[in-house]
Amino acid sequence: MKVIAVVSAKGGVGKTTLCANLCIALRLQGHAVLGVDLDPQNALRFHLGLDLQAIEGLSRVTLEGGDPREACVAGNQGVVVLPYGAVNETDRRDFEATLEPDPDWLRRHLEALGLADGTLVVLDTPPGPSVYMKQALRAADLVLVVTLPDAASYATLPIMEGLIDTYCEGRPGFLESAYVINQVNRARQLSKDVTQVMLAHMGDRVVGLVHQDQAVSEALACSQSVLEYDVNAQGTLDFTQLARWVTDRLARSERTR
Ligand SMILES: Nc1ncnc2c1ncn2[C@@H]1O[C@H](COP(=O)(O)OP(=O)(O)OP(=O)(O)O)[C@@H](O)[C@H]1O
Ligand SMILES: [Mg+2]
Repeated sequence: MKVIAVVSAKGGVGKTTLCANLCIALRLQGHAVLGVDLDPQNALRFHLGLDLQAIEGLSRVTLEGGDPREACVAGNQGVVVLPYGAVNETDRRDFEATLEPDPDWLRRHLEALGLADGTLVVLDTPPGPSVYMKQALRAADLVLVVTLPDAASYATLPIMEGLIDTYCEGRPGFLESAYVINQVNRARQLSKDVTQVMLAHMGDRVVGLVHQDQAVSEALACSQSVLEYDVNAQGTLDFTQLARWVTDRLARSERTR
């Protein structure tokens, strides 16, 4: 099992979109994939074709003393999805109180799922510091930091670096954190300029560029990934390339072990 955490300090940058599309891209490249939603928004399921009325998920099954395997459901293309679940405010707080004193709770519970060898686990997280972010960073082999090519997102990157330093750096098994710039728009001068600045400052730590593509949001309206919605879309190409980077990076770490 390898765990990839999708994170950002700023909200609305495209984490859930990236997480879902990466799950599908990895699956289409032949990998077993589990997508785990650690965000109380419980939105990953919208992208992966789950029953919208279903309320089960990691939070509820944990509070009920059940096994997280009971809350795993089949999503599009055979991606297995562990939704966050629908909970009221009291239950949300109780679930967070379970996670708070036990930073390795998630990693332990993922290992206990008994996933097939080589399964890639992709974690969706809420923005900014939270109990979920801490669990995700403690569990991750690889961290993908998502940012928009704008000044507001750029300004929050040091917050993410601080969290990664605290919870990932030096931890056995942790490989690296890397950046994905999402919603790049080459028709907009500011988007182009900020993308160039980010590439200049972060160099090869930028491992993916995802263009702003209407097909990405249209796909969501159809409860799909862009890869399923339009094989020729720019977004399909971008997420496919990102998935290749992820698998190459993981393969490299296996070879050097
Ligand atoms: N590459 C893209 N092209 C076009 N639209 C996109 C792209 N990426 C994301 N979006 C759109 O941007 C919006 C925000 O995306 P998303 O919900 O994935 O962000 P998020 O980081 O998960 O937000 P939050 O911080 O609230 O969890 C959505 O409407 C999504 O469809
Ligand atoms: Mg999200």
